[in-house]
Amino acid sequence: MPSFCRLSGLNRPSFRVLPLQSRTSLHLRAISTTPRLQNKARSRDRVAIVTGAARGIGRAIALRLARDGYHVTASDLPALQPQLDSLVSEIAATGARAHAHAADVTSPAEVAALVRTSASTLGPLHTMVANAGIAQVRPLLELTEADFSRMLDVNIGGVHHCFQAAARQLLSQGPVQEGEEIRGRLIAAASIVAFKPFALLGHYSASKWAVRGLSQAYAMELAPHRITVNAYAPGIVDTNMWELIDEGLGKIKGKGKGEMIKKYSDELIALGRTSVPEDVAKLVSFLAGPDADYVTGQTYIVDGGIIYT
Ligand SMILES: NC(=O)c1ccc[n+]([C@@H]2O[C@H](COP(=O)([O-])OP(=O)(O)OC[C@H]3O[C@@H](n4cnc5c(N)ncnc54)[C@H](O)[C@@H]3O)[C@@H](O)[C@H]2O)c1
Repeated sequence: MPSFCRLSGLNRPSFRVLPLQSRTSLHLRAISTTPRLQNKARSRDRVAIVTGAARGIGRAIALRLARDGYHVTASDLPALQPQLDSLVSEIAATGARAHAHAADVTSPAEVAALVRTSASTLGPLHTMVANAGIAQVRPLLELTEADFSRMLDVNIGGVHHCFQAAARQLLSQGPVQEGEEIRGRLIAAASIVAFKPFALLGHYSASKWAVRGLSQAYAMELAPHRITVNAYAPGIVDTNMWELIDEGLGKIKGKGKGEMIKKYSDELIALGRTSVPEDVAKLVSFLAGPDADYVTGQTYIVDGGIIYT
């Protein structure tokens, strides 16, 4: 299976030099912004990288962004290369170009190579979705140093590496394109536990709380460069990650497979159903699109009504 498709259709966006604008002219341009119907056409020349894309929420985001008109570099751990390759074929079938590149987000060098390869294969970067993450059910008093470090390395270190490499790439690509208000977008996976921790998922909760804080700090530092930074906070999404959480909580509480996710979904979710990855992808589609040009530093909850802000 090829790791990229439709290269023959390579159609790099032209980066015309935008003269330095005053805040006033930018404002005027923002309010006379492109109509909704042109959004898809505007995304056509754009490239997004999605980490943790081999399955679950990341996969749904990659497919949704491709449907929105993005070309997509899908990334995950090397062990999931076959899943990445099949995702790339599925994206290519939508007419978008796609590319698979395995990288461990805990490695700054691997993430830098991911960003470089994406740019040389699909063209200039526009959006980074730092979605990769891990969870672990374990009481705080039983955590080892390795448990704690691993959680932070992947969930917050990974977001930092992705944001830093992507922002450097965006700045290296020259001025903001003519007719655009925003140079690029950084988007991270937080969680509802970034607002209220889950007992027995203490270090996971802390890592996601940190994602919310780091996204706010990146938003502040990158706003002058016209890069927006936001995060999404899913609730209980039926993926491999929740299978693991269900199993871990079930062991501690003496419940069988599937009982904990059902219990929490029934008791906590106002809209009355467990979330699916596509619920989250719809929010990321908004954050990655031109309708979110004026949104930065936010963490948006998409949980069917568990946490109220
Ligand atoms: N499922 C949920 O209910 C839920 C809720 C809130 C937040 N989230 C967050 O959404 C994101 C996606 O979760 P999911 O439910 O799809 O989980 P998942 O386990 O199905 O997918 C996570 C992906 O990240 C990849 N990954 C893990 N460590 C990596 C690393 N070091 N480098 C690169 N890739 C790595 C995995 O291989 C996997 O493909 C995660 O950040 C998760 O914390 C999930």
